[in-house]
Amino acid sequence: MIKTTEHAPSLSYRVKEKFRTVFAESDPLIVRSPGRVNLIGEHTDYNHGFVLPAAINKAIYMAVSRRSDDELHLVSLDLDRQYVGSAKRVVPSSLHWPDYILGVVQQIQALGHELGGFNCVFGGDIPLGAGMSSSAALECATAFAINQLFGLGLDPMTMVKLAQRAENVFVGVQCGIMDQFASMFGRRNHVIRLDCQSLEYAYVPFDTAGIRIVLLDTNVKHSLVSSEYNTRRQQCEAGVKLIQAHHPEVKTLRDANMDMLKAYVASVDALVNQRCEYVVEEIARLLAATKDLERGDIASFGEKMFETHEGLSRKYAVSCPELDFLVDQVKDDPSVIGARMMGGGFGGCTINLVKEEAIDGLVERLTPVYRKAMKKDLKVYIGQIENGTSLGE
Ligand code: GLA
Repeated sequence: MIKTTEHAPSLSYRVKEKFRTVFAESDPLIVRSPGRVNLIGEHTDYNHGFVLPAAINKAIYMAVSRRSDDELHLVSLDLDRQYVGSAKRVVPSSLHWPDYILGVVQQIQALGHELGGFNCVFGGDIPLGAGMSSSAALECATAFAINQLFGLGLDPMTMVKLAQRAENVFVGVQCGIMDQFASMFGRRNHVIRLDCQSLEYAYVPFDTAGIRIVLLDTNVKHSLVSSEYNTRRQQCEAGVKLIQAHHPEVKTLRDANMDMLKAYVASVDALVNQRCEYVVEEIARLLAATKDLERGDIASFGEKMFETHEGLSRKYAVSCPELDFLVDQVKDDPSVIGARMMGGGFGGCTINLVKEEAIDGLVERLTPVYRKAMKKDLKVYIGQIENGTSLGE
């Protein structure tokens, strides 16, 4: 059976109810901040390439109100835990989950804004560790909520950047800008082509009739912190350094090409070369894939998704047996236009473009084979493209 998403208003209602119970206040500010999918362009953001994400119908809801003192009272509805700290001295907690909020508080303060204390309850239906960027959604919700609450006048891109810095500095993941950008800037029924170098972006309609975005969750929890994410980033930087010795104008892999890799990286470090090759190919692939979308050639777009998976699995080595299995299973299925692992990797979901009428059959077919082969349950989400971070009800 296909799992549908939890009904959003009930989530917002539960967050408000919890707020009422814990803080005895009934009129908090409500912010909704979504998770994201990414159609193509993986591990390209921190290499200043392009990405093609969209915000989805899975979100964090946050209720906030100002306090008269400097205390920060943070409540996780889903974990049923509370954290109390001070806006005057923001330090990483030992609990992990408050750090996404505290990191944003710290980054806003670093921009020179004085913040008083606030009460906060949040909860959501973005599956944790499934590669749909629940952490970015929490960071964006926090930035948006604080901006409103204290009337700071921050523009959305500033909020995106500080949310990313919070993750880099406070949480310790050297992530790129894609997740926070998609969560903040999402637009219903559109994917966003973001140039991660210039930060220029364009909304591309995604109204492929009869085709749905299906997320197949391996149930393998990825952890970017403990994963090799930061190592991949270093390997890309190492490749750039080798090229720079001959081409000082090359600042990131966005500026590099396959000839440069061949000439200056391949003979020095085969592994670094392999990683860089994937990135250079993926940046070009995304540009071609965007043209496919504009032409309405979804079949060609889908083929490129399979190519991306191949690259992520073999050259970039961020896949895992479960992700490979799921992509392999749909490769020759004519109802699946394209499929690949999505996000940082090492677990989480595959993103599939599937003909609507075939979804039920596909899920029925995959569920038992996945359980048999991988000894895990398959979870399925139908991704609807929604608006980005906004005030909720
Ligand atoms: C994670 C990071 C993003 C991006 C993807 C891979 O989601 O947070 O910045 O690098 O992995 O494309």
